Amino acid sequence: MVKKVGIGLLGLGTVGSGVYRILTERGKTLTQRAGVDVEVKGILVRNPAAGRRVTVEGGLLTTDPERILNNPDISIVVEVLGGEEPARTYIERALRAGKTVATANKEVIAKHGVELLGLAREQKVDLLFEASVAGGIPLLRPLQESLAGEDVEAVYGIVNGTTNYMLTAMDKEGLDFAEVLAAAQRKGYAEADPTADIAGHDAARKLAILASIAFNTQVPIDKVYCSGIEEITAADIAGARELGYVIKLLAIARRVEEGIEVRVHPALLPQGHPLSTVDGVYNAVMVQGWAVGTLMFYGAGAGQMPTGSAVVGDIIAAAKNLFSGLRGQPRVGFAPGVPVIPLEEVETRYYLRLRVVPEPGVLGVVTRLCSQEGVELVSLDIKNWGQDSANLIIRTQRVKEKAFRGALAALRKEARVHEVESYIRLEGED
Ligand SMILES: NC(=O)c1ccc[n+]([C@@H]2O[C@H](COP(=O)([O-])OP(=O)(O)OC[C@H]3O[C@@H](n4cnc5c(N)ncnc54)[C@H](OP(=O)(O)O)[C@@H]3O)[C@@H](O)[C@H]2O)c1
Repeated sequence: MVKKVGIGLLGLGTVGSGVYRILTERGKTLTQRAGVDVEVKGILVRNPAAGRRVTVEGGLLTTDPERILNNPDISIVVEVLGGEEPARTYIERALRAGKTVATANKEVIAKHGVELLGLAREQKVDLLFEASVAGGIPLLRPLQESLAGEDVEAVYGIVNGTTNYMLTAMDKEGLDFAEVLAAAQRKGYAEADPTADIAGHDAARKLAILASIAFNTQVPIDKVYCSGIEEITAADIAGARELGYVIKLLAIARRVEEGIEVRVHPALLPQGHPLSTVDGVYNAVMVQGWAVGTLMFYGAGAGQMPTGSAVVGDIIAAAKNLFSGLRGQPRVGFAPGVPVIPLEEVETRYYLRLRVVPEPGVLGVVTRLCSQEGVELVSLDIKNWGQDSANLIIRTQRVKEKAFRGALAALRKEARVHEVESYIRLEGED
């Protein structure tokens, strides 16, 4: 027997219109597959007169949140407004009113997931957020269900399409950061204020959520180390390419003996690495498990229909829980448990480019200064040996962040080193 479920949408922008299209255009398939008949009962927007990507049945649009949050015919609220407030308050109110919530909002989940999941448990309703990480790519449910028996050792990948588009364009077209950013904004791949993307905050929020699910522990957003792509230059990309690497903004969560490390930063990846060919606005996440080995999830990390697909997946899961009486039994608690280790203790390899005084002995000086701080070099190449300066391109062994910082400070004090031009972490080669 087909069961009816009422849905309220908070927002009808990019994602909301994708959700609405899938629910209305593919409703029959959903009914056949899930045995539920999903009906949209109301949609909150700011401006009902604005042009829309979808044609919506008359009377559904409203500017009054009470028509959704206080509507007894609505059991599932879909939050796709974006931003922290009023989205967080509306989610809380929906949960308190006994409604299940599906959201695509990484900011709210990364910052308030703990309280909201606790509230959902108390209220015996669900709070689902598959679309908050990597848009259309199923990640959170596979981690919680298909990989429930797995001891996850690491999750890492490319989770921000804007920065991946920009790095790809810098690599393929040899353009500099500012030119690529302007092009991304013209094409609608970067927002007018691109800070959240290029500074890595968007990726950090997604990583906090992903790591919390993968390791079943609370990973507070302020514990995620985050450095963006603003400082990456065309010279870095060309230098990386010459050595056989590409530069990607990586989000990395790894279990180590003392806890877990969580970090977002640009990294050099060898050209043969599976993530090195993930180009443009695409996302990909690798999951490394003790038994399963390495898996790769790849696809559209954003966009109207892919993100809409992830939200609709949550709606169907929520509807099934509603009718089977399994509501309010979240598999994740985001409970504190495993400590996040401080960045100084994180071990990585480094690529380092110096401009030095071109005189005999300078290689020895640089090697000694690094070694004194515990930084051993894997390779040291000389480029552009000129009258006044030469470039040294260095790759280090694995080293703790604090030792690397010590070497950097020593190099910066050294008179024969004109400048530390660039340093980028090296991943994917251990
Ligand atoms: N875009 C993507 O590809 C993507 C991918 C993954 C996750 N997400 C997440 O999904 C969420 C929505 O993103 P989006 O791109 O769909 O945003 P969007 O295009 O800006 O749409 C936001 C919608 O919410 C409505 N809205 C915003 N604030 C409101 C308020 N205070 N009161 C009433 N209505 C309000 C807007 O109404 P009006 O239309 O009247 O202005 C609009 O319909 C965000 O959390 C985002 O991070 C987006």
